[in-house]
Amino acid sequence: FKVRVPNNEPIYGYKPGSVEKLELRQTLSQLKEEIIEIPLIIGGKEIKTGNIREVKIPHNHKHILARYHVAGDKELEMAIEASHQAKEAWIKLDWHDRAAVFLKAAELLKGPWRAAINAATMLGQSKTVFQAEIDSACELIDFLRYNTYYMNEIYTDQPNSIVTEWNRLEYRPLDGFVLAITPFNFTSIGANLPTAPAMLGNTVIWKPSNNAVYSNYIFMRVLKEAGLPDGVINFVPSNGADVDRVLIGHKDLAGIHFTGSSRVFEGIWKSVGENISKYRSFPRIVGETGGKDFIFAHNSSDIDALAVAIIRGSFEFQGQKCSAASRAYVPKSIWEELKGKLNEQLSEIKVGDVENFTNFVGAVIDKKAFDKVTSYIDYAKKSDEAEIFWGGTYDDSVGYFIDPTIILTTNPKFKTMEEEIFGPVITIYLYDDKDLESTLKLCDETSPYGLTGAIFAQDREALAMMQKVLYFSAGNFYINDKPTGAVVGQQPFGGGRKSGTNDKAGSKLNLLRWVNVRNIKENF
Ligand code: SER
Repeated sequence: FKVRVPNNEPIYGYKPGSVEKLELRQTLSQLKEEIIEIPLIIGGKEIKTGNIREVKIPHNHKHILARYHVAGDKELEMAIEASHQAKEAWIKLDWHDRAAVFLKAAELLKGPWRAAINAATMLGQSKTVFQAEIDSACELIDFLRYNTYYMNEIYTDQPNSIVTEWNRLEYRPLDGFVLAITPFNFTSIGANLPTAPAMLGNTVIWKPSNNAVYSNYIFMRVLKEAGLPDGVINFVPSNGADVDRVLIGHKDLAGIHFTGSSRVFEGIWKSVGENISKYRSFPRIVGETGGKDFIFAHNSSDIDALAVAIIRGSFEFQGQKCSAASRAYVPKSIWEELKGKLNEQLSEIKVGDVENFTNFVGAVIDKKAFDKVTSYIDYAKKSDEAEIFWGGTYDDSVGYFIDPTIILTTNPKFKTMEEEIFGPVITIYLYDDKDLESTLKLCDETSPYGLTGAIFAQDREALAMMQKVLYFSAGNFYINDKPTGAVVGQQPFGGGRKSGTNDKAGSKLNLLRWVNVRNIKENF
């Protein structure tokens, strides 16, 4: 068997009058009309605990979209049991039969489920149609297809054997269950974190983000329709403290696949440390966490491209991509020209309800995020080291709307240059052209993270020097492009330092963390 090299799923245009736009519009209306009840799914069974929370639309927070049940200790323990029970039959399946389930899920998402998962992502996470399409349709489909392709590569990678013996590698799953803890900001990451280990024969307990339960539940329904056996992935919206005590504290925990904040990830490592002598095996811990992603411009930059990168890199999906640019370093000599272009383009940007397809920026995810992001804006307004160059306004009366905001600072270590904000805010520091090298060093030292970064220059020597100084500053490094929008199969994604373990989502490197290899040598 050989899985063919996949193509990336093409993006639908949703042009006025197109069939796909009509279908999406109808689905948006349907989802808004009916308040669904989302159960836990454990061992294939729908379970209702009666401990219920609401899913609200971030850009229209009085509108309740769904209600979901929250797992308690009992259900988390049931999920462990279900994952054990499902494992034997799941391992016995040939790898290509396992792969087929996920390839079928990709086909279902491409066709019949595309509108539903996009609409759920637009409503539940306030993504524009374009942002939903590149995430919950294209990237998710790409993860499923590429991971089955890499799976094929892994299983066929075998050692040499001499004539009188035969050496084989058996790619077993981990010995225990894998816990997937997923974020709100990408439906595709939500889906990738449980499915990547599952493909390799693991059984998984999936704790989705409370802010993405809606789209994530739809993905569970797609998996069911694709034929995923019961208990292979168990879906348990739950509280972090319970997950920590019951799941991370369990002897059979074999791995954690995490995307979220650096603070929570540190807590996970500590908890694993406290439980370490209890476990049957040392758990694999894979995490993608925070970022303070940068754009660094040289005075030979293409200024048009730079302006577009600042705007798209910082403000698409309200700056809530872990890869979003949130600090920029610009030489004084090009600022006047850049300023003109930013003004021109920013004045075209519309903020508002993402169900109006012409809006470019929607709402931030919830009240907590709104308060946090706006507190940084207020801090900059009061400081004599900063000024608001653009935006700085916000309003949460209907939805959690924050206008795209550019802060200018005279202090390269200003609070908003250092700390992760996770909203539509970027801070620009203007440097003297002669201070290029020292400013690059500052850029490298200013944040504890190492996720994404972009450099802009036309001068080849400058580009070479910039790449060297910023050697460890980003796991995804872009030259003359924005630092967001990694494509599965093209730019494997992840960062180091405090941004995670850099096990590159959507690549063989990631999948290798979920296998537990047995070498067999047989003499003839
Ligand atoms: N993969 C996303 C991007 O590159 C972030 O998670 O923007």
